Parts: sequence; C-alpha cells; structure tokens
Amino acid sequence: MSKIFSGIRPSGKLHLGNYLGAIKNWISLQDEADQAIFAVVDYHGITTPFDPKTFHQQVMDVILDYLAAGLNPDKSLLIRQSHVPQHTELAWIFNTITPVSWLDRLPTYREQLEKTKANNMGLLDYPVLMAADILVYKSDLVPVGEDQLPHIDLTNEIGARFNSSFGETFPNVKAKLTEGARIMSLKDPLAKMSKTGDEGIALSDSPDEIERKISVATTDSGKEIHYDEKEKPGISNLMTIYHLLSDKSLTDIESGYAGKTYVEFKKDLSDIIVSFLQPFQSRRKEFENNLDQVVSILEKSEQKCRALADETLSDVKSKMGLI
Ligand code: AMP
Ligand code: TRP
Repeated sequence: MSKIFSGIRPSGKLHLGNYLGAIKNWISLQDEADQAIFAVVDYHGITTPFDPKTFHQQVMDVILDYLAAGLNPDKSLLIRQSHVPQHTELAWIFNTITPVSWLDRLPTYREQLEKTKANNMGLLDYPVLMAADILVYKSDLVPVGEDQLPHIDLTNEIGARFNSSFGETFPNVKAKLTEGARIMSLKDPLAKMSKTGDEGIALSDSPDEIERKISVATTDSGKEIHYDEKEKPGISNLMTIYHLLSDKSLTDIESGYAGKTYVEFKKDLSDIIVSFLQPFQSRRKEFENNLDQVVSILEKSEQKCRALADETLSDVKSKMGLI
C-alpha cells in the first residue's frame, strides 16, 4: 500500500499524451492506494508565460479533465496547489538545504530557459516545489511520464539531505511509469506530444478534428505497418496509441494490418480514438454543467490536504527548532 501524489500544470487542455502517460495510471492506482492526491499545480504553471485572463479557466479545465477521465473524489483528493499553502512553505524550507548546482543542471530547466528566455527564480526552483508537493504528504509513489524522472531523483536527494541533517522524516519516493509513457507529436515523431496545436490530440477534440489530425500525421517511408522506433518513429508512435487504447498487442496489430495501407490503419486508429473519447467528453459536459459540485469537491479535498500537510510541517519545524 502506498501514498500517491501527482500533478499536472494548467497550461492548456490535456492531450492524449497526458492521459496515456499519466492519468490512465492514476485511475487504477487510486483503487489500491492508502492515500491518493492529484493536484493542478498552478504555482508551477506561473513559472512560464501565462495569460491571467484565461488562467483560472485553465485550472478548471484540468480539474474537469481529471473528473471526466475517472478520478473518483470518493477515493482521491483533487486539489489546486495554491489552495494548500503548506506546499510553498515546505518548498522554502527545502530551498535552504538545496544546492543551486543540483538545480541548474536539470534538463527540464535548460529546455524551458531555452524556450522562454525568462530566467526567473521560479523556473530554477520548480523542482524544489515539486519535491515539497510530494513530501508534504510523505507520499512514496509518484505516477509520471519519464521526462519527470530527474525531478523524482532530486526529490529523493532533498528528502535524504533533510533526513540526515534533522532526523528521519521523509520516505524514499518511487516513480511509477506507464507503458507508452512517452507519446510523440503527430507532426514530429521525434518530439514529445505537447499541449499546443496540431502536434497533439486534445481530450476535447471533436471526431472531425481527430480524423483530420490522424490523417495528416507524419508516417515514414515504406508501406508496412511495422513497429520500429528507430527506423519508423511515426508509425510506431501511432501503433503505440492504437495498442494502448485497444489493448491489442503490437504484434497483433502488425499481423492484422499485414498487406494493408497506412490509410486503412489511420482510419481505424481515428475510430478507436473517437470512441474512446466520446464517453469521456459526455462525462466532462455533465461536470461542466455542475460546476458548484466540482468546486465543492475541490474545497473538501483542499481542507483535508491542509490538515495532512500541517502534520508534516509541524514535525519539520519542530525538528529544525522553528517551533
Ligand atoms: P505536462 O503536460 O508537461 O504538465 O505533463 C503532465 C504529465 O503528463 C506528466 O506526468 C508528464 O510526464 C505527462 N506527459 C506530458 N506529455 C506527455 C507525452 N507526450 N507522453 C506521455 N506523457 C506525457
Ligand atoms: N513537474 C510536473 C510536470 O511538469 C508537474 C508536477 C508538479 C508534479 N509537482 C508534481 C508531478 C508532483 C508529480 C508530482 O509534469
């Protein structure tokens, strides 16, 4: 039994990569966990450029996606990070034991810096807040995509340093990766699927949009539906999506499409995606029409989380001589 924590930034509508790389995993984990907390990490979201006019809606969009995907408020606590201020309080404490050299070498920081050119402290400090998100609940299992592994390592380094400086407090944290943890862009199969534009399939895309995006998705030279990440990254990525949504193995897909064309394969794949997304989208509409209920789910969860996080903070502060 474990204590689970995970989070997603509110930087746009969730896409199939978020679902297959993260949320799908969460749904099954919430049944077995001792404690399951899923956050919209809005304080992480403001470390890169954002629009204050749409930010609130973006936070609610992620919550609606969580609920529609099957996160069950009877089993999981669903929170907005900034509504549990203990996360940032513990992050400050962690700042005082984290060498800058642990942070400025991280690939995620380097990438974001390159992209946004905005070298703010928040961007550098991003993983320290993430460590606090996880450890403030003494969580020990974190379902994420593989791009997040360096952050989980750092969380353990920070936890271990706290433990050795002030006494055993934090558990060791394990990442839980899903199969297909890295879904690639439809345009450039060498880059990760992200929230923007045509490269990704948003969970809210209409059947027409899905069909169009899949029909223009980059495939590779040759004709066979054959899995080979190196030589055929485009078709391999589409096969992975097919496999994960249909539960057909890659070998079954290969033999089922022997002698068939990319066009036929793509047509079936868009049907699979559309029928997977339809129930999701209708559940999402129901929640959208009951926003009061959604806000009340959030408020109840946040209240419980503040109480849980306070226990850890009192322990931490007392070990440090702050109280
Ligand atoms: P982000 O959208 O970057 O905030 O990521 C939220 C979660 O989704 C993290 O656990 C990521 O690892 C995961 N994720 C994001 N993009 C992908 C992708 N293309 N494939 C698989 N997982 C992803
Ligand atoms: N850094 C994660 C991402 O970009 C989001 C995140 C913030 C997170 N805090 C977390 C994920 C805690 C897991 C646990 O996807």
